Amino acid sequence: MDFLELVSQRGSIRGYKNDPVEDEKLQVVLEAARLAPTAHNNQPFRLIVIRTAGREAELSQIYGRPWFTQAPYLICLVGLPADGWIRAEDGKNYFEVDVAIAMDHLILAATSLGLGTCWVAAFNPEAARRVLGLPGEVIPMVFTPLGYPDKESREKTRKCLDELVHYEKW
Ligand SMILES: Cc1cc2nc3c(=O)[nH]c(=O)nc-3n(C[C@H](O)[C@H](O)[C@H](O)COP(=O)(O)O)c2cc1C
Repeated sequence: MDFLELVSQRGSIRGYKNDPVEDEKLQVVLEAARLAPTAHNNQPFRLIVIRTAGREAELSQIYGRPWFTQAPYLICLVGLPADGWIRAEDGKNYFEVDVAIAMDHLILAATSLGLGTCWVAAFNPEAARRVLGLPGEVIPMVFTPLGYPDKESREKTRKCLDELVHYEKW
């Protein structure tokens, strides 16, 4: 599939079948995240693969939308700030950027395999910590369900390029 077609095809899926996800597909999706570039190649992220079956009530404490626990898997990307590359000039830690790139790789790989995903950041971080047993230095950043879509994503609305792109100067 052409890259722009893949990017256009990806949309937030908020309804899943509980059909199983093939293990080969899961491994491809995880591998795509592993290959993501990170600042200084520090790889300050980890992936937590969560099987939803039988854990729906507990996982709903993290994010209460019914579709959150419909797919066979939830994947959580966590950040490790202590491992993040820090820009010497101003002390900015880039770990969040690295996590986002890994998640985007994962999500686009899933799309290419016909799987649905949805970035979820509006979760309860305390519940995520508790349910996933995260130590204090591990930051839960984003979740996605991973499964076969049962719904289409909403129509894409985006600013036009004229609004987004500046040439040469602000
Ligand atoms: C960092 C980030 C966090 C998001 N968090 C949520 C969320 O908590 N719940 C949700 O339903 N959608 C969430 N979304 C999905 C966005 O609403 C969605 O990507 C946007 O509206 C564009 O729609 P599309 O993904 O279908 O193209 C999030 C997206 C991103 C990139």
